[in-house]
Amino acid sequence: MSLLRLLRASNQRFALHLPVHGRGEALPPALRGLLRQQPGRWDLPELPDIGGPLEADGAVADTQARLAARMGVECCWFGVNGATGLLQAALLAMAAPGDAVLLPRNVHRSLIAACELGGLLPVFLPVPFDALRGHPGAMTADGLSRSLDALPDLGCRLAAAVLVHPTYHGYAAEIAPLVNRLHAHGLPVLVDEAHGTHLAFAPGLGLPPSSLTTGADLVVHSLHKSAPGLAQTAVLWQRTTRISATALRLSLQRLQSSSPSALLLASCEATLDWMLSSRWTRLLQQRLETARRLQDRWRCQGVPLHESDDPLRIILNTASIGVSGLEADTWFMNRGLIAELPEPLCLTFCLGLARHRGLATRLQRLWQLFLEDRGGPPLAPVAAPPLDAVNVVELSPAAVSHRATLACPLSQCADRIAAEMICPYPPGIPLLVPGERIDQARVQWLQRQHARWPEQVPGMVKVLA
Ligand SMILES: Cc1ncc(COP(=O)(O)O)c(C=O)c1O
Repeated sequence: MSLLRLLRASNQRFALHLPVHGRGEALPPALRGLLRQQPGRWDLPELPDIGGPLEADGAVADTQARLAARMGVECCWFGVNGATGLLQAALLAMAAPGDAVLLPRNVHRSLIAACELGGLLPVFLPVPFDALRGHPGAMTADGLSRSLDALPDLGCRLAAAVLVHPTYHGYAAEIAPLVNRLHAHGLPVLVDEAHGTHLAFAPGLGLPPSSLTTGADLVVHSLHKSAPGLAQTAVLWQRTTRISATALRLSLQRLQSSSPSALLLASCEATLDWMLSSRWTRLLQQRLETARRLQDRWRCQGVPLHESDDPLRIILNTASIGVSGLEADTWFMNRGLIAELPEPLCLTFCLGLARHRGLATRLQRLWQLFLEDRGGPPLAPVAAPPLDAVNVVELSPAAVSHRATLACPLSQCADRIAAEMICPYPPGIPLLVPGERIDQARVQWLQRQHARWPEQVPGMVKVLA
């Protein structure tokens, strides 16, 4: 079927995936109003009164300046190429070719691409791994201190550090002490808060703190993963002057489209203004209360859920009844319940900000059916990756690109240098990065990952010839 026909087809399924506006229901009211106008009349270029994220004048510049003042930060830039585009621009403003940057091992692949574009050397910091869930947790302050103490001599300038807070699953990092420790090490800090925009707009609602109020220098928020805007919208906040606004502006100019969509920019404005309103706070409070109630009810009914710091992320422990999250995803999807993130041991649903009438009963009934249909002994845990120490890539990703490569079965990759990324998406966390030397322990771990999700972790990998 064509995309247009698919999008036109209405269906009543439970959309428990991103974007969080839930097929339009939770879009900001002002944006819904705009979209009710004659289709396309808002699709305008950067006319003088509109401008764009990098123009000094016009409506976009005025709104960005107003929002920066309201949030108590130096600058604000809207982005229309996802958190991806803004993260890349931010990192490239922080480091020059040949510099090293600290990245957590659960970094999103966009920042590896930024290292390749900018000739940067990624230095990976370990994050905890939960073998029973089969995915990484959030970085801890003690873990970071150990990593900083163990940093080797890099032979180049260490320019910046990145943190992820919270993770895709909603696990919050100890963000304030993490930022403090990196600052004490003399490093400016960029926080990828793509999954935590709502944390900055939830006063008194019991969510973990946002890095926007806990010292980060630059923060990137997705406005569709954890805020109710249209897909591809995001915002970059510059909190301090450790990184110059000029460097950021130049970097954004290099990467952003010269024709940013007025509709997407209007979505950025409408979303942030909506999240600063008292009606939003009430709505978020209701959604959080509903999410907590739903989770309590499902747990009482025997649905196995893992804990998350974000009540809006529901992590179903499918391994507990012997089924992978990937198989469960297909099973639930065929019955009208569409999840966000299937993995070998669990299946994560995003409740988002729309109402889901009837979901409490539907999920519970489906779980009972699923149990009768597929239930068996629990799956074995996923062994932690052999990545529990600071790891400097042997060659920078840029040095690897355009070199001669060969495709090698995983079993024959030991002692080779990877020439491509292995990265299941979602969640977009690379298991192998170009420029890394693959040792025997990694070969074995990747083989085990391949056996768990062969569609996402290939059995052949490109290595340097
Ligand atoms: C932690 C994290 N950061 C950044 C991104 C990129 O966001 P976007 O898809 O809006 O470009 C993702 C996407 O999954 C993500 O999970």
